Amino acid sequence: MIRRRSRPRVLWVLLLLCSILLGYFSVIISAAVVTLDSIEIFRTHEWLTSKPTVYFQCKGEDRIVLPDVKDKHVFYTFKGEESWQPLTELQDLKCKRCGFYEKDTIKSDDVFDEWEFCPSDFNRSDGKYVHFKDRELNATFLCPECVPLGSASDNSTQPRTNSKGMHWALIMVISITVSAAFFAGLFAVYKYWQKKKRQQEQARFLRLFEESDDIEDELGIGPLSHVI
Ligand SMILES: *[C@@H]1O[C@H](CO)[C@@H](O)[C@H](O)[C@H]1NC(C)=O
Repeated sequence: MIRRRSRPRVLWVLLLLCSILLGYFSVIISAAVVTLDSIEIFRTHEWLTSKPTVYFQCKGEDRIVLPDVKDKHVFYTFKGEESWQPLTELQDLKCKRCGFYEKDTIKSDDVFDEWEFCPSDFNRSDGKYVHFKDRELNATFLCPECVPLGSASDNSTQPRTNSKGMHWALIMVISITVSAAFFAGLFAVYKYWQKKKRQQEQARFLRLFEESDDIEDELGIGPLSHVI
């Protein structure tokens, strides 16, 4: 009795775990990787050494040191596969506070520029976004996956919100469909298993009766009474 009651509960826990997992995956799917395509710095802040240590950092994340960027007025280009890439990841339409900084040996680190880094900035069809600050730097970022997030076609806000809605709606629909199919399958398997078990129990019960009949036959109780 207790076993029978606990089965459905196990099933529910399983279903819950699956939906959490699905939700997790949909978040992973919507994260877009951002790489640095090129950078040029127009000045350095440190006057003790001529070779600066330039790094990129988003608030709350690790700093990404750009080991090659040492000279001003040199245009550095990257393949996106360098050991320190990618720079960061962007999720749906959320902006991050990010910037380029230069390590300082004495005081706090110097800032080339710090700004709101948004997926909607990637509004070119080639997935590039140029961030330029006068007398500081010119950096080009690459994020092809950000283009559908930030809507590439035009600059009005209406399509942008639509695209976001579409994106999430799609993820929701896929998640719900997959979960529903999975749950239905699981339920069918559970029902089948229950039916099978009941049939087995019935068969065993019948066999028990037959066996007791056999024992009666062997002992000769039945036939003997007939003879008399
Ligand atoms: C910044 O770099 C891009 C190349 O990635 C270039 O097209 C653009 O003209 C540069 N802007 C300035 C102001 O140097």
